[in-house]
Amino acid sequence: MPIETTASVVAEVPAQAELLAVPYTPDLDPALTDDLPVPVAALFAHYEAKGEAGEIIEIPVVRGEGVGRVLLYGVGDGSPRALRKAAAALSRKARGRERLTVVIPGFEGADEVFAEAALLAAYTFKIGAPGKKPVRALEFAAADPQAVRRGEIVAQAVALARDLANMPASVKNPVWLAERATEQGVPVTVWDEEALASGGFGGLIAVGQGSANPPRLIQLSYDPPGATRHIVLVGKGITFDSGGLSLKPTDNMKTQKTDMAGGAVVIAVIGALAKLGAPIRVTGLVAAAENMPSGTAQRPSDVIRPYGGRTVEVLNTDAEGRLVLADALAYADDQLDPDAVVDIATLTGAISVALGRNVGAVYATDDTLAKELVSAGQTSDDRLWRMPLIDDYAPALESSIADLANVEVGSRFGAGSITAALFLREFAGKRPWAHLDIAGVGRSTVDEGTLTKGATGFGVRVLLEWLTR
Ligand code: BES
Ligand code: MN
Ligand code: ZN
Repeated sequence: MPIETTASVVAEVPAQAELLAVPYTPDLDPALTDDLPVPVAALFAHYEAKGEAGEIIEIPVVRGEGVGRVLLYGVGDGSPRALRKAAAALSRKARGRERLTVVIPGFEGADEVFAEAALLAAYTFKIGAPGKKPVRALEFAAADPQAVRRGEIVAQAVALARDLANMPASVKNPVWLAERATEQGVPVTVWDEEALASGGFGGLIAVGQGSANPPRLIQLSYDPPGATRHIVLVGKGITFDSGGLSLKPTDNMKTQKTDMAGGAVVIAVIGALAKLGAPIRVTGLVAAAENMPSGTAQRPSDVIRPYGGRTVEVLNTDAEGRLVLADALAYADDQLDPDAVVDIATLTGAISVALGRNVGAVYATDDTLAKELVSAGQTSDDRLWRMPLIDDYAPALESSIADLANVEVGSRFGAGSITAALFLREFAGKRPWAHLDIAGVGRSTVDEGTLTKGATGFGVRVLLEWLTR
């Protein structure tokens, strides 16, 4: 479900706004609060408020025959981070209400991040109708309509990525995912299992062969006239990761419908680029398969050939993401001639040990690319930390019978997220390449701020920021 809350702009604060949010800043226009029963400063002192982001004081006011409310809200240091927190808190406070009118504080860039975060906090994914409904309408007074519109496009793209990842795998399989890709307003090419086999995509075939739902490679092409740069985005699209014959324990398996979160980000980003009319050529590749155990499943010890023909000994069928990504990365390098390739994947549990649930990992073979992504992450609030490609660990992936092994046997080197990145690097070619490991940040365990429980859509904001600014 897309975010159902609407966002609009009004020229000035409506006199009878029933629920009105006013920022508590020193330069607050007194006219906005002249119907409060007590002066604002006294109210703040009374409630011992500090003006921090997320803080809200709710005050009843007379509205014609009835009662309205003014929400005095803190804005902290006025940074985008603080404003997002304030906006999310207001949006949550207005749950169950018809309309929230917001006066946005006058900080640089505030209108966009405010709209984005308030809408994101109104995101829900429900099969059924439990709990309070998000606020139906957000109305921003005297805001820049273009900034609000961009905030809305970004938030809806994050919502799409969340929706795709939250969808149960009983509905969501590679074919279903390919259908969703065709709804983004750009040309889409899909390889079915036969085309994959004859095209030499041995990773997707091997991972998908245990499932009744066949694999797909999905290509989305956003190619606006006059674009000079060409970027390829590659997303891991495992619609369910049971581990395959290297079966996961129940507790680890039950979150694995979101193992296509990277692919969902790629689909949502391309859709948003088209809506924004961004002047850059971007090709999306989603490597989609369902990793299941069965009589036709690949076995630990099988040797496969990802795109390009090198051989890989599959020693653990649960390290499947790198096998399908190998196909897509090698294909991009061989056929698409991009200026840079960025892949995004819920690749390793190890990265959540290293970086936790709030910061994603970026690996890169190019310093400029790494810096750009880290900086875009800072601005967009999808924060990234650069991780090293430690060459000393490359022998972890040596196989005695094939060109490469898909996992380290034993734990001489460890560093599971790094060795996974080293494996991918083998297939990325010589172009600037970055890899985002979002296994830690792809799901949230809390319903808080701009996050809702379940899929986060992490990656949409940083990639859109990077590609459009
Ligand atoms: N999809 C998982 C990684 C994952 C784990 C994502 C937890 C989200 C939450 C991936 O396919 C996987 O199983 N990785 C293995 C690699 C190992 C077998 C080398 C892992 O992390 O345990
Ligand atoms: Mn796995
Ligand atoms: Zn996986």
